[in-house]
Amino acid sequence: MLHLSLRQLRVFEAVARHNSYTRAAAELHLSQPAASMQVRQLEDEIGLPLFERLGKQVVLTEAGREVFQSSRLINQSLREMQEVLESLKGVSRGSLRIAVASTVNYFAPRLLAIFQQRHPKIGLRLDVTNRESLVQMLDSNSVDLVLMGVPPRNVEVESEAFMDNPLVIIAPPDHPLAGERTIPLARLAEETFVMREEGSGTRQAMERFFSERGQTIRHGMQMTRNEAVKQAVRSGLGLSVVSLHTIELELETRRLVTLDVEGFPDRRQWYLVYRRGKRLSPAASAFRDFVLTEAAVIAAPANLDAV
Ligand code: PGA
Repeated sequence: MLHLSLRQLRVFEAVARHNSYTRAAAELHLSQPAASMQVRQLEDEIGLPLFERLGKQVVLTEAGREVFQSSRLINQSLREMQEVLESLKGVSRGSLRIAVASTVNYFAPRLLAIFQQRHPKIGLRLDVTNRESLVQMLDSNSVDLVLMGVPPRNVEVESEAFMDNPLVIIAPPDHPLAGERTIPLARLAEETFVMREEGSGTRQAMERFFSERGQTIRHGMQMTRNEAVKQAVRSGLGLSVVSLHTIELELETRRLVTLDVEGFPDRRQWYLVYRRGKRLSPAASAFRDFVLTEAAVIAAPANLDAV
């Protein structure tokens, strides 16, 4: 009989799914050497290599494919067991894993604080990451609920809109277009735009907005954080498009202004998303109800009338 641990199988399955030790380690909140060690121990126990290297990627060997099939079933069944156990605990004592887009993190902590006050015994865990990783988490069923922009199309999910997410164009207060009324979209061709990274929902929405209107824009620097984008715009590196949720403080202190451009604000929505067919625990259902009925009251952007 093989002596395998569930932990080894979980790490192995994540490496196989991502074709990468680094990405698997990040998903499981492990160091990369710790992830490699788990897989090495599994290989020693089985007596065959499970992965081979192809350039930067690791791919499954024949033995690896065999183990992958079984480990998927085992992990799936463990998750189902966990979901049933969570539902037996009831709303007051469950645990809840929530993942949000980086832009959502401007208001998610406020929601969690209120929810936690009402349900102090629920164990809450929050992951903040970009859209691409959120889609992977939904795909691998490793998260209960996700708060994001546009729901994914390539994973079967349930999604419910819960709040406005207006996108606005930001500029430094001394920009020549600041204070002008109804600026034509075509005028933006003369400007440079600071961009979020590929995989960002904001970036995707911004590119779609301009391409649907046949407008090309000049891409300037690219940054992975809203905070970096805002600092870049303040420093005169260009204009950008961000969610109104990210600039509450900057508008109050007039460190940034929004431009009155034709078609803006681009009115989008935030969605609560989970895998179709997932059995929501009582804790997850309680959080879902809370977000759908109260988030817009608690966290709607304060400056919507001013843009
Ligand atoms: P982002 O996502 O933080 O990855 O840009 C926000 C969104 O989807 O609107």
